[in-house]
Amino acid sequence: MDWPGDATLTAFGRQALSLVAQELRKFRVTSLLAPDYYCPTMLVPFSMEGIHVHVVETGHDCLMRSHALDEALRTHRGSAVLHCETFGSRADEELADVLCTARQAGTKVVIDRTHSWPEPGEDSGDYIVASLRKMVPTPDGAYVTGLRLPPRVIPNEATRRATRARMSHLANPTLETFEAAEDLADDAWVPAPPSLEAMSRVDEFDHESDRTQRARTAAALRHALTGMDIVNPDASCCVALSHPRAHQIMDTLAARGVHGPIYWGQPLHLPHTRRWRDDVFTLPVDERWAGREDELASWVRQAAG
Ligand SMILES: Cc1ncc(COP(=O)(O)O)c(C=O)c1O
Repeated sequence: MDWPGDATLTAFGRQALSLVAQELRKFRVTSLLAPDYYCPTMLVPFSMEGIHVHVVETGHDCLMRSHALDEALRTHRGSAVLHCETFGSRADEELADVLCTARQAGTKVVIDRTHSWPEPGEDSGDYIVASLRKMVPTPDGAYVTGLRLPPRVIPNEATRRATRARMSHLANPTLETFEAAEDLADDAWVPAPPSLEAMSRVDEFDHESDRTQRARTAAALRHALTGMDIVNPDASCCVALSHPRAHQIMDTLAARGVHGPIYWGQPLHLPHTRRWRDDVFTLPVDERWAGREDELASWVRQAAG
């Protein structure tokens, strides 16, 4: 894999984000603006460094609304911004403009490309971060670019344990092995290098043919779902939909063995008064579904009633 020249590799995305948070703290950044629909592991590293997170309203596409970010930048001066390419969606022109103007004015912009890597994408951030294990069957692996003071990343036992559990999950992919591995990853916040196994899997993986197949499956699935509310029309990591009965649909699909690749439940620590997107669910577009798009779409329609 050709990593950008200044990339630092870590085992998990949260560890790459920790390196960013540590550097931001050294630059005396004390607050972060982030989307109000997020994976908790994106934000915990910043909180762990004492950086206060202010969430910014997201739109239908689950990305920050440009005017809301613009306003938040004025209210919370000196904040850094975390822009996430959630469900593989790119910033539209207005949001890209706000991010670019903020950056020109000295705001540090972090871009999380976990759902869009390895597609070519947004690189106009101070830091680009991606966890690799969402898109490639690798036990671990993540990278971050843009660190001005790249630290020496040293192996640690918590990360080794989490990586071993992820390998067991890949060898025997059940809900139990998945949860066991995620629980151990939740203990592995201290940055460590990726495993050798991860690096060789990422190197050997045929990214080009995977990308082509995903894009084709996603397009066919969207076509078969015409009329339903698609959240990420251009992305190829998954098909994300909005539906008022998203949870029932997910349960019905799970009973057929269909599990969306990305699901963010409401973080328990959020005040109940804050809104949370519970209308969103995702559909897989990996090779198991190539040629079965109509069948999958018909299950979705049946589940949606
Ligand atoms: C957008 C995004 N960023 C970062 C992470 C953290 O990556 P990791 O689980 O490898 O620590 C996740 C985790 O699911 C994520 O969805």
